[in-house]
This record gives sequence, C-alpha cells and structure tokens, in this order.
Amino acid sequence: MTFVVTDNCIKCKYTDCVEVCPVDCFYEGPNFLVIHPDECIDCALCEPECPAVAIYSEDEIPAGMENFIELNAELADIWPNITEKKDPLPGAEEWDGKTGKIADLER
Ligand code: SF4
Ligand code: F3S
Repeated sequence: MTFVVTDNCIKCKYTDCVEVCPVDCFYEGPNFLVIHPDECIDCALCEPECPAVAIYSEDEIPAGMENFIELNAELADIWPNITEKKDPLPGAEEWDGKTGKIADLER
C-alpha cells in the first residue's frame, strides 16, 4: 500500500507534506510532487498536512484519479528527492481547487 499525490497538487505544490514524511519518499517536479510507492510506509502522516487535500491512500483515490497511482510511480523514478519545505508556487491559492490540472503537468 502507498499514498498517492493527485491532481490538486499541480500548480500549487505547497510542500507541507515533505516535512512530516519519516522516510523522505517525496520527489519533486517543476509543478507537482509525487510519492515513491516502493518507499512509502503507509504511515498516513502526510495526508492531513496537505492544504490542497491532494494526498490519498491508494485504496481511497477519488473516482477518475486512478491514473495518478501509475503517474506517481513513474515520476518518482525520474524526479529528484525533496525533504525540505519551500514556498508554494506563485498563484497557488488561485489554482487550489481547480480541476483537470493534469493538462498543465510539467515534466
Ligand atoms: Fe511518507 Fe507516510 Fe506519506 Fe507515505 S504515508 S508518503 S511514508 S508521510
Ligand atoms: Fe502537493 Fe500538498 Fe504536498 S499541494 S506538495 S501534496 S502539501
């Protein structure tokens, strides 16, 4: 079991999540973070920390976001590790809550 970062992280990237992860399994792209499924220990600490409510347990992913399970696995193998909180992206508050941000994902 793993936790998964989903659509609402895109273009927000608040990064509160990385500070609580005991195994440092977050990986960072230009406008999105992902969780490495082989490293996540399923502790659930990150889920309530995300201001954008973008993190879900693999078995509680909202309908239509199942593709993020594979996307997290794919990108976690490519992107660099992130362990310290940084400022959110400019415009994060305006983008928070918008849907279909996957179209704006930068790799
Ligand atoms: Fe890290 Fe725990 Fe969140 Fe997995 S569930 S990403 S181990 S904080
Ligand atoms: Fe993204 Fe939420 Fe972390 S917006 S960077 S999953 S705190």
